[in-house]
Amino acid sequence: MTVIVCPKCSKQHRVNIANIPEGKRIAARCKACGHKFPVILQQLMPDSGTDMAEVKKQSELLKNKVPPISSPNTPPLPEAKKAAEQPAISSVTEQLQEQQPELPAKKTETTRRISVSLSKGGVGKTTTSVNLSAGLALAGYKVLLIDTDTQGQSAYNLGKKPGAGLTELLTGELTAEEATIEARKNLWLLAGGRSLAGVKRIIDKKSFGAEWTMSEALSQVDHKYDFVIIDTSPGWDQLTINVLFYATEILVPVALQVMSLQGLSEFMKSLSSIHKYRQDVSLKYIVPTFMDTRVKHPQEIFKKLKQLYSQFICKPIRYNESFSEAPSYGKTIFEFAPGCNGALDYKELIRKVAQDETLLL
Ligand SMILES: Nc1ncnc2c1ncn2[C@@H]1O[C@H](COP(=O)(O)OP(=O)(O)OP(=O)(O)O)[C@@H](O)[C@H]1O
Ligand SMILES: [Mg+2]
Repeated sequence: MTVIVCPKCSKQHRVNIANIPEGKRIAARCKACGHKFPVILQQLMPDSGTDMAEVKKQSELLKNKVPPISSPNTPPLPEAKKAAEQPAISSVTEQLQEQQPELPAKKTETTRRISVSLSKGGVGKTTTSVNLSAGLALAGYKVLLIDTDTQGQSAYNLGKKPGAGLTELLTGELTAEEATIEARKNLWLLAGGRSLAGVKRIIDKKSFGAEWTMSEALSQVDHKYDFVIIDTSPGWDQLTINVLFYATEILVPVALQVMSLQGLSEFMKSLSSIHKYRQDVSLKYIVPTFMDTRVKHPQEIFKKLKQLYSQFICKPIRYNESFSEAPSYGKTIFEFAPGCNGALDYKELIRKVAQDETLLL
């Protein structure tokens, strides 16, 4: 196996150069951004586990079989022959597309339970939850995305209309397997929605252990996943508390807009009151969102955030129109606009969260 990197969007594709038809010059079209580019066999990177000597041998073998490129003085080739000597774009493109899903399965030591939370609304919680989950799934991890919001936006963003979800699991009407849908390869969804309002009332009425309701319901199934990502609602209610009694890591998206610092400091206060009762949950990542490099204000807020929370701060996610367009097509940013700056920013965040800088996605 060999890795071909798209020069435009940096997407990495695994291909088997041994399968490239003999005697063909090679060009590839990136499945992610559609960019067409020539491929120089000698410059290809073998992926881990590939024998470098073998790649070189195969490259030499193929190079020797490539027909010489005709000079301007060479008489024109007959049409049939010309067609035969065209670069093998389609065959290589097919290879790239076929081989992309073959990324090796990834494994974490234990299930990582990450809550994407901030009481303030519209800061990018759902956008981050969906794209972080989708990206980890693309990289080969098994991911469960749980939507704890009555708005039910996670399913909409993934283009799904599930008949059941978290409500049915928490009320015991369905088992976790029955309540969960497969949204993409490696990505499962426990959907939110309006019915969760009723569940909050049921939890409120419990005399004992109300804050553990979600943990108990998920304890039978969550070991099957490498990551459980939880999209939370704005505000602070019984379900938010349940999430913070279940998760072990917290990722906070902070919009680089007015009032964001105040929203963050209020959330930190609420979190410290949870800490008195549950020490296993901790803030891990602060992800600045809506970064607009053309204006000064977001950069000033980012600077301030870096000063205050240097150990948690991640690289900002840039403002990009594609984020608001993608959900209406039911697509993640990696499906809708994989080459856009926002997609590249999320890829970087995914590598940081997975603690693997070499992650292919
Ligand atoms: N980096 C970005 N650039 C541009 N638009 C974005 C970006 N991130 C998110 N958006 C858009 O901003 C809006 C709010 O984002 P999102 O729904 O993710 O926020 P939220 O925190 O989940 O909101 P709520 O608190 O209501 O659940 C959405 O329309 C989304 O598409
Ligand atoms: Mg949301």
